[in-house]
Amino acid sequence: MSNSGNDLESKLAALQEEATQAIASVDTLEQLEQLRVSYLGKKGQLSQVLRGMGKLSPEERPRIGALANEVKEALQGNLESKRQELQAAQIQAQLAAETLDVTMPGIYRPQGKIHPINSTIDRILDIFTGLGYTVATGPEMETDYYNFEALNFLPDHPARDMQDTMYLPDGNLLRTHTSNVQIRYMEENEPPVRIIAPGRCYRRDTVDATHAAVFNQIEILAVDEGITFTDLKGTIKVFFAELFGEELPVRFRTSYFPFTEPSAEVDVQWKGKWLEGLGCGMVDPNVLKAVGYDPEIYTGFAAGFGVERFAMVLHQIDDIRRLYSSDLRFLQQF
Ligand code: DAH
Repeated sequence: MSNSGNDLESKLAALQEEATQAIASVDTLEQLEQLRVSYLGKKGQLSQVLRGMGKLSPEERPRIGALANEVKEALQGNLESKRQELQAAQIQAQLAAETLDVTMPGIYRPQGKIHPINSTIDRILDIFTGLGYTVATGPEMETDYYNFEALNFLPDHPARDMQDTMYLPDGNLLRTHTSNVQIRYMEENEPPVRIIAPGRCYRRDTVDATHAAVFNQIEILAVDEGITFTDLKGTIKVFFAELFGEELPVRFRTSYFPFTEPSAEVDVQWKGKWLEGLGCGMVDPNVLKAVGYDPEIYTGFAAGFGVERFAMVLHQIDDIRRLYSSDLRFLQQF
């Protein structure tokens, strides 16, 4: 095959034509780079054409050389402008994809509400922390010792009966009241004690409009030198006045709890009706002894009550089961 200058000239022209079209039709930067290598790379098509230059006459060589340079520069220019075009398009596409329309309406999320049991607990904790009490908690799975024995329940006390207490297969139990926190707190802390202990309790009660097998109690305990029944009465009167928003008549009835002596049940008169309020009493000396406090030096009072009943009274709820039904139509009212 002869390699005349005209031959090379037409090859260069064909190469330029083909490469220009190929560059114009490319639509990614990777494809563009492949084209650059294939036309202008060391082993590319332009180099291959130029290899034929060695056989040219000395007169033709500079003409073809200059032509080859022109082709090379033209193609480099094409490559560069295509590269800029593709890069700009890439940035545009990225901007379009990442554009945030701040005028779009948001996604609707229903507003959560505080459950009436929790709001009642919060209110009561607020009242007592305002009086200087500290919030304390204890375990829901408990031993017989903390739930009964240290609280002065005799071994055959009916509250231990299988009908009331949920026993676990390992001999532990689910606490039947929050009074276990009295023992746990006093074991760990020296007097003076002022604690309020909210928490879930469990009993094998038949569920009806006023009974649940799982319910919430709040325990109050104050132990110090010189605490008297008058302190207990004053504290309870202040508590009810704060909870109901007005001073209310309060009535103490004698009662019995193993861990208090004397013991009382307290009713509060609200809207003309007597409501059962709470159980309370002076901490039994045996309880103080069980935690290593000297009952000759220290006295104290304790009180305990269910949260659900107050939540029901305050929110006029007729059935305790509504509090646990998870019915949004009910819960959204609060
Ligand atoms: N623990 C009692 C119960 O579950 C409630 C109670 C009564 C707690 C009198 C007390 C108290 O601290 O002094 O029924």
